[in-house]
Amino acid sequence: MRIDEDTLNIFNNSLNRCQSNPQFLSLFYQKFALLNSDIREKFFNTDMEQQKIVLHASIQMIMLASQGNKAAIDYLDSIAKLHSKAELDIRPELYDIWLDTLMETVSIIDTNYDKKIDNAWKKVMNYGIEYMKSQYDYDKKLN
Ligand code: HEM
Repeated sequence: MRIDEDTLNIFNNSLNRCQSNPQFLSLFYQKFALLNSDIREKFFNTDMEQQKIVLHASIQMIMLASQGNKAAIDYLDSIAKLHSKAELDIRPELYDIWLDTLMETVSIIDTNYDKKIDNAWKKVMNYGIEYMKSQYDYDKKLN
């Protein structure tokens, strides 16, 4: 089901406010890494400046995929497979922590933050998260 236009506008406006603050994704990764050693280990060898750029792009891609954009759906599919058990092995419950941390960060960075904005982000991000979780057991040998 496509996300309604009202929700999409609320999400896009909030995303623009967040992304105009250079602290947005730094704060997100700081908080995320503090949560547990499992998460810290996953990012042990990661260039976090590069990671912020790809996360920025993939948040926009999830929004476009939720609107049926074919290129964005293919991109979401490729990152879902990369995060699957056979590759990065990102367990499904880590996505719930990821979203909670993202929403905590949005609530700090977006000066207009309210319940409607919270709901709009969750609706859009959950579109991507549900798909990523559904691919956890993806096995290239069987496909
Ligand atoms: C919807 C949620 C998420 C999105 C949109 C997302 C997006 C991405 C993207 C775009 C990349 C880079 C892919 C590439 O290099 O081609 C990436 C890499 C990665 N992600 Fe995620 N991710 C999500 C959730 C998570 C979670 C929950 C974890 C848990 C720790 C995680 C851990 C990683 C790791 C370890 C890498 C590899 C970093 C490296 O290259 O060293 N991701 N993610």
